[in-house]
Amino acid sequence: MDQPKVTPIQPPVLNATGQFMDAVAGSDVEPSDYGNAVPAPVSEGWLDQLASGLSESGWMSLDVRERLGDPLITALREEVAILDRTDAMKRAGIGRGTDLVRDRSVRRDRIAWLQGITPPQAQLFDFLKAIQQGLNQRLFLGLKRFEAHYATYHPGDFYKRHLDSFQGRASRVVSLVLYLNEDWSPDDGGALQVFNRDSDSEVCGLVLPEAGRMALFMSEEIPHEVLPANRTRYSLACWFRQDEVPLPL
Ligand code: OGA
Ligand code: MN
Repeated sequence: MDQPKVTPIQPPVLNATGQFMDAVAGSDVEPSDYGNAVPAPVSEGWLDQLASGLSESGWMSLDVRERLGDPLITALREEVAILDRTDAMKRAGIGRGTDLVRDRSVRRDRIAWLQGITPPQAQLFDFLKAIQQGLNQRLFLGLKRFEAHYATYHPGDFYKRHLDSFQGRASRVVSLVLYLNEDWSPDDGGALQVFNRDSDSEVCGLVLPEAGRMALFMSEEIPHEVLPANRTRYSLACWFRQDEVPLPL
């Protein structure tokens, strides 16, 4: 399979909080108060399940709604919905730096990088850090950091079959997608279609992007595709990486 390397249109900018916060704060929609809700701790047994899912089949989908709690999921959805109404969501691209192409025949989503600064993002980042550490302890993946972006797919948007990383690059190693839409029905389209890692014409899973559902897969191994959405689709994607710093542009 001849797949383009899929990388962000720009690396996460760690100090660009002003712009990001303005985009959230500038809206007339009040983010919901998710109070002091603390997500259920990431238990050792749960991390064992993630590790065995990844090592046995290379991918899994699971429900983390209870674990994260509705208030956090709602707060994240409200953030992405607000960003989607501003110019903060940028058209996603393929490649990096001067190789970047924004090929609308391959992907049509819009993205905004998370900085981990707002309270819901900080809480989410703690959860992601615990997953990173848990996977390192169990699978010796040497994950050093993660990057995460929100994505919105408007009606008609899709992302054709791809891998999240080139084999052997050891940059993006594990991909995680968390879905944020309430009451998603099969008629709404937008499912994540997962292909067999050994025979990429064989579909081995379909994940509906329902709030609290999470997909986890090996970035270099699992071909996947986002089918055209018929309704605005909100999600958050995260990549756990083995490299310490972004490649120079
Ligand atoms: C991606 C991706 C899957 C999804 O952003 O690389 O494949 O279900 N997302 O949103
Ligand atoms: Mn992908």
